[in-house]
Amino acid sequence: MKLILGIETSCDETAASVTRDGREVLSDIIYSQADLHKIYGGVVPEIASRKHMEAIVYVVREALAKANVAADDLDAVAVTSKPGLIGALLCGVSFAKGYSYSIKKPLVPVNHINGHICANYIASPTLEPPFICLVASGGHSHVALVKDYETCEILGATLDDAAGEAFDKVARVLGIGYPGGPGLSRLAEDGNPKATHFPRPVNGFNFSFSGVKTSVINYVHNLKQTGADIPRADIAASFQAAVCDVLTDVTIRAAKESGLKKIAIAGGVASNAALRSSLSDAAAENGFEFFLPPPRLCTDNGAMISCAGYYAFMAGERAELNLNAKATLNI
Ligand code: KG4
Ligand code: ZN
Repeated sequence: MKLILGIETSCDETAASVTRDGREVLSDIIYSQADLHKIYGGVVPEIASRKHMEAIVYVVREALAKANVAADDLDAVAVTSKPGLIGALLCGVSFAKGYSYSIKKPLVPVNHINGHICANYIASPTLEPPFICLVASGGHSHVALVKDYETCEILGATLDDAAGEAFDKVARVLGIGYPGGPGLSRLAEDGNPKATHFPRPVNGFNFSFSGVKTSVINYVHNLKQTGADIPRADIAASFQAAVCDVLTDVTIRAAKESGLKKIAIAGGVASNAALRSSLSDAAAENGFEFFLPPPRLCTDNGAMISCAGYYAFMAGERAELNLNAKATLNI
């Protein structure tokens, strides 16, 4: 039986969790800074770093207390070391280094994207690789072939904006505050997804959301210039439909070509209800088994890092005190 403390500070959530053998969540504490960044319309990296430093001791302490686990009982301390905002990542990495050293436990580095994928192991106790996973977050959008618990091959990716980034930017044009994804999807519930056809650019298994976003922005500007009413709900629903169609199409085609029978989704955008039902329907139509974590495990959390840390720990992965944070992706 292994107890792993997982620490996540790559963006604007300070999170910590203790899991038992990777898949059983004993505690999952998330301190979200979203309200602090709201007035700026997006995450301000300096503020994120400062708040992580203020919160991290309390968040980790609460994660241990909720799990009823003492530092001595832990088998390892896992931490997100890449990718993300560099200052924010450094807060978690520096804390984890000092903490693991002080309690004399191994330090295990975790790739944030692999962490998102691992949320599926918590939600679906019998799921095992290989499978196809769509990872759609604020910083990244990939269709990955998950080969084992630690490695995956990227089959396709966005060529420009990530799906969540496009949601956030379109939301801003529609007057919805940060983070835009949840607000935009609520607005879309009252809209007609067929009201306006926005482009759906796809090339092989790669896709682009910058063009979709620009098309929505131009559409709104043109309406404003003529003084016409802005049908916000219809625009939100039509934009959301374009993004869902692209992500569903690419994921299903990649799964068909892989010959695998299982599809999973992960990342903040995977909490979008329209995407969940579009992929779920398409997976069923094409005979795939479909896995999806609950929304709380899709957006950033410590449990997914603890789970990924467990598998890395079991594979013998360790970091020394020279572990550094890295802003860019290298799965
Ligand atoms: O995975 P995540 O929590 O952080 C990153 O690793 O980026 O993803 C955050 C992103 C944001 O862009 C947010 O707007 C988007 O996920 N998001 C959503 C929804 N909930 C969060 N996008 C669409 N619909 C949602 N319901
Ligand atoms: Zn994330």
